[in-house]
Amino acid sequence: MKILVTAGPTREPIDPVRFISNRSSGKMGYALARVAAGMGHEVRLVSGPVCLAAPENVRVFNVLTAEEMLAAVTANMKWCHVLIMAAAVCDWRPVKVSRTKIKKTGEVPSIAIEQTPDILTTVSARKGRRVIVGFAAETGDPIAEAARKLSAKKLDLIVANDVSRADAGFETDTNRVSLLDCAGVVRHLPLMSKDAVAGKIISWIEQTRSTV
Ligand code: CTP
Repeated sequence: MKILVTAGPTREPIDPVRFISNRSSGKMGYALARVAAGMGHEVRLVSGPVCLAAPENVRVFNVLTAEEMLAAVTANMKWCHVLIMAAAVCDWRPVKVSRTKIKKTGEVPSIAIEQTPDILTTVSARKGRRVIVGFAAETGDPIAEAARKLSAKKLDLIVANDVSRADAGFETDTNRVSLLDCAGVVRHLPLMSKDAVAGKIISWIEQTRSTV
């Protein structure tokens, strides 16, 4: 299969030295790209700014902002059979980016922010027969929230992640997730390495694609 993976955070600039971002390390997305390539798939990776080496046999497209990630994903949609959005896209960005450093004058600046485009919602509207997988990073009720996003973003599978736990989610090498599919099946996976989680997700996609 031709698999497009997104990974890492996006970075939304405020001025030349500051930005809004989030805690994503990119490890889950890079594990997906590495494991999918190892399982014989053709893989492209759209990556936000991370400190990870490019996986072998994977073509990497580096981006910074949500807008750039949307453009890179859109450009690769025709090519792919599968899209896995593991990236933690920043939900907001400053309305105006200052070209010069905002100086500390004594008054606290107020920065107007606006929502970034929702990449999954934008591309899933024209998904055709592609399999689309999303992630849900939650601190509340991961299953209920993931189920809501699965249906709102028209996904085939969503990976629910409780990021309030120390051994799962951001910056860790392990993860404890649940897989929810569009048929209503929920699979709770035990704590395992991100590579093992990636293997489970790619196997689920292989099985789904072979039955459609
Ligand atoms: N996502 C996206 N575009 C965005 C934000 C998120 O495509 N602008 C994708 C993420 O890559 C992930 C899924 O949507 O696969 C869910 O992301 P998440 O941050 O959990 O949810 P949000 O839709 O941002 O909602 P909230 O922050 O309110 O939980």
